[in-house]
Amino acid sequence: MALKVSHVGFQSPKLPSFTLPRSSGVRSPRVSMASTVRSTTKEVDTMKKPFSPPREVHIQVTHSMPPEKVEIFKSLNDWAEENILIHLKQVEQCWQPQDFLPEPSSDGFIEEVNELRERAKELPDDYFVCLVGDMITEEALPTYQTMLNTLDGVRDETGASPTSWAIWTRAWTAEENRHGDLLNKYLYLSGRVDMKQVEKTIQYLIGSGMDPRTENSPYLGFIYTSFQERATFISHGNTARHAKEQGDLKLAQICGTIAADERRHETAYTKIVEKLFEIDPDGTILAFEDMMRKKISMPAHLMYDGRDDNLFEHFSAVAQRIGVYTAKDYADILEHLVKRWKIESLTGLSGRGEVAQEYVCTLASRIRRLEERAQSRAKQGPEVAFSWIFDRKVRL
Ligand SMILES: [Fe+2]
Ligand SMILES: [Fe+2]
Repeated sequence: MALKVSHVGFQSPKLPSFTLPRSSGVRSPRVSMASTVRSTTKEVDTMKKPFSPPREVHIQVTHSMPPEKVEIFKSLNDWAEENILIHLKQVEQCWQPQDFLPEPSSDGFIEEVNELRERAKELPDDYFVCLVGDMITEEALPTYQTMLNTLDGVRDETGASPTSWAIWTRAWTAEENRHGDLLNKYLYLSGRVDMKQVEKTIQYLIGSGMDPRTENSPYLGFIYTSFQERATFISHGNTARHAKEQGDLKLAQICGTIAADERRHETAYTKIVEKLFEIDPDGTILAFEDMMRKKISMPAHLMYDGRDDNLFEHFSAVAQRIGVYTAKDYADILEHLVKRWKIESLTGLSGRGEVAQEYVCTLASRIRRLEERAQSRAKQGPEVAFSWIFDRKVRL
């Protein structure tokens, strides 16, 4: 196992409380997190410095999976072809962003755009903050493909590798690419958001990357992606529901269609982890425990717009308040995965494995209890200006 200390940058947004349920206070035995480091928030100062993206500051663990386990993934290549690649859709059968947007070559284009803008006028600012945050998260797709290609034994070694794992990663990326594309074009046409600020946030975020703490291990990596695909399924599902409630059926259809893709991707990733539980129950339960003790960080946790040092926390607080993605969802996802992988009925585990089993099986209820206590103490949040919506203020 190699250890590497990350460079200390500036502008380090902390993770929001719901991505870091303060349930255990126990950190991974292999990783300790130092305090994050902040400095100035002023755009003018940032411009004087060379590009220095925000980073989480903790010891970064690399290649923690024992090398012999790489063979497990090589031996699963044919299994993945039969069981995972079937969850991809043929390009010809896939929806494309253009299916949901005004047709630019048509005479009715301007009229369709005006209709879209009229519908968008009915949606509140806090809704747009969530939709923009979701879109920016999707637009940082290069980071997620990079993350998958950090994983030992499954990475795309050449960029056009014929292994099932590499085929999955490329085709998954190609499917995901439509999500940010569609939301970006919709938001551009809506006229409701400051596109330049949104675009800057995307550039900052891709430059910053992400730190999911998956240690090049496909065990940790596929547990992380299982969790994340479900998280995005839930949040896009909620933006769809809210759009419908506000009478924008077209936007509801857009968000609902993206949510359905996320659901299909979740099916594939949870199937991989299910297979790992079958082959190596002890190694897999330890990995699940490890990811949950470290907490699942959101992919866009290093978000920054050049102005707000706590942008991700603010976005997350709005998402929590209006019910797009909440601490309850975090606990629900965990509970869902515990059921999906039949963790309670795993047998033949080592003593350490049984401790991990107990930990993950009881964690969701602990998170819920803490969240209920936090909610009962919660006061009304302050109003914060979001550059994405021309510095209009939204309550957290
Ligand atoms: Fe997506
Ligand atoms: Fe996804």
